[in-house]
Amino acid sequence: MPVITNVDDLKRIYQRRVPRMFYDYCESGSWTEQTFRENTSDFDQIRLRQRVALDMTGRSTAGQMIGQDVAMPVALAPVGLTGMQHADGEIKAARAAEKFGVPFTLSTMSICSIEDVAENTSKPFWMQVYTLKDDDFMQRLFDRAKDAKCSAAVITVDLQLLGQRHKDLKNGLSAPPKLTVKSVADMMTKVQWGLGMLGTKRRFFGNIVGHAKGVKDPSSLGTWTAEAFDQALDWDRIRQFRKMWDGPLIIKGILDAEDAKQALNVGADAIIVSNHGGRQLDGALSAIKSLPAIIDAVGDKIEVHFDSGIRSGQDVLKALSMGAKGTYIGRAYIYGLGAMGEAGVTKSLELIQKELETTMGLCGVTSVDKLSRDNLLVPQGFEGNWQG
Ligand code: GLV
Repeated sequence: MPVITNVDDLKRIYQRRVPRMFYDYCESGSWTEQTFRENTSDFDQIRLRQRVALDMTGRSTAGQMIGQDVAMPVALAPVGLTGMQHADGEIKAARAAEKFGVPFTLSTMSICSIEDVAENTSKPFWMQVYTLKDDDFMQRLFDRAKDAKCSAAVITVDLQLLGQRHKDLKNGLSAPPKLTVKSVADMMTKVQWGLGMLGTKRRFFGNIVGHAKGVKDPSSLGTWTAEAFDQALDWDRIRQFRKMWDGPLIIKGILDAEDAKQALNVGADAIIVSNHGGRQLDGALSAIKSLPAIIDAVGDKIEVHFDSGIRSGQDVLKALSMGAKGTYIGRAYIYGLGAMGEAGVTKSLELIQKELETTMGLCGVTSVDKLSRDNLLVPQGFEGNWQG
């Protein structure tokens, strides 16, 4: 086993171990993937301000997200199909997160169900919900999350319809996977992955099959998802969802200051600045370039979180210094999960925490809540001088 020193090392192992169709699902943006690429490359434009001869002992990455204690302000983002990246992937990732002390967010489109994750973990997790037309299904989802003692709901507002990802269409991506000659040939080379999958019953969308009307078996799921997402979604509808869930609420998928102002009226505890990892509107601004305008617009009125593009502890530090109160990783933990299961998720969290904590020291900061724009060198015109 090579020495793993960064998240990219995990990604290389992940690529070797997991069938191509699931690697591609994770490692894709929509259309040209410009936004997907810029989510990470725009972080490189921000430099760090080195400070010396400042007492850097006793550094701590601990903080809070929506009033909940976290070992570092880095939650695991909701990722669909996590249980196809590794057998029982959602349970493995949730366990790693709870041991580490960071929130795990379960996707509606997970393989392991809410109840399954709750039974196999001991701390509350967060539940992500899409905005679907079917009120009964939505209410049931919130009720199930409540019964499972989820400590927050995350409503995704940027997926009324799906951005086109070329590779998924070409690969015939589905759960369970469509078995073409090519995909079977590829899967046969991923021995550990295959043995894991043979050893688990969890191979379908656990939150949907048997719960949504008309979805009795995995074959009816395609039609259901195509029809289920609510293209007529508006802020009134999002306020109705607020009424269905009386716990802490987070609105995910805000990229524009005007939308951030609208989100204030929903009564949420936080918003997440996110472009869905570059998987929805290709050509949209990277999340890190979108963050400053949103902080200026609503940063003093609601907790602003950040997602899309984080691959290192330095990225976390940059987002926090720009004003985010919390961050999320998606791909960065999926690489670990695909590479080494639960231990890989733990490894990616450890790597990120070490990078964050060391970088804080070299910037002369000892606690995450003291990070500010003062620790950064942001190029003039970073956000771009766009004509609206
Ligand atoms: C689902 O949310 C996806 O981005 O694939």
